[in-house]
Amino acid sequence: MAATARPRAITVPDVRVRKPSQRNTDDPLVALTAYDFTIARLLDRAGVDILLVGDSLGMVVQGESTTLPVTLEQMIYHTRCVARAVERALVVADMPFLSYQPSLERAIDSAGRLLKEGGAAAVKLEGGAAVADTIHRLVQLDIPVMAHVGMTPQSIHRMGGFKIQGKAQRQGALVCAGSREQIIDDALAVEAAGAFSVVLEGVPPELAAEITMKLSIPTIGIAAGSVCDGEILVSYDLLGLTHDRCPPFVQPYAQLGESVIQVAERFGQDVRARASNRFNKTA
Ligand code: KIV
Repeated sequence: MAATARPRAITVPDVRVRKPSQRNTDDPLVALTAYDFTIARLLDRAGVDILLVGDSLGMVVQGESTTLPVTLEQMIYHTRCVARAVERALVVADMPFLSYQPSLERAIDSAGRLLKEGGAAAVKLEGGAAVADTIHRLVQLDIPVMAHVGMTPQSIHRMGGFKIQGKAQRQGALVCAGSREQIIDDALAVEAAGAFSVVLEGVPPELAAEITMKLSIPTIGIAAGSVCDGEILVSYDLLGLTHDRCPPFVQPYAQLGESVIQVAERFGQDVRARASNRFNKTA
């Protein structure tokens, strides 16, 4: 009997060369977040290229109002759950707040644990020029890095909320954080440091287009128009599970939250009615 062919796993170099805007091909990267075995297995089966174990789990799994409370231990745990499920997608693990900012040693230790214990193939960290040295060192140690610039949720207090970045212009010689020029500089800095791709979040589409043209690594957009080399979304938002907490830029493709409520209501009705046809089967 012929063995069923397993889909070939996507590697970091595969992603690095997926630059449709420079290759005259239209093969954008498809990326979603995943936090657990069951959903990761379904998304992998759907042919998603990259599964990001995002620190957005702080908000959509843990119910926090920001990503800041997420710990490295929690990221390792969720990364392991996802990595066990995946046969094809590239598994990327987010580095949580303060797991890389304090020192290079801390960054190496945290990223190394996400690969060794979590089973990720790469890490993602937020920030531009300010974290370029960290990216460079991790890449030198064969820890592939996806960068993340623009609206970076770990900077929520500096930004004053989850706000679109890159609208402000340079003030004379002053290039302020969150300005158009700063975001372009950040994107160029993470590319020079060796990142294999970069998430562009919450920036105007024209700025995302300009950065996508300037970089030779793929850009993966979220709330950044449709011109990047790929798109990423929080899977729970896409599936319609997050209800009133879903960001306004997301158009859910399903309303699974409603289905969950309806199914649980039907189960409740059957239990209360002692619907024997439902509960007669034994293991
Ligand atoms: O944490 C996350 O889920 C992310 C993506 C939304 C890019 O960083």
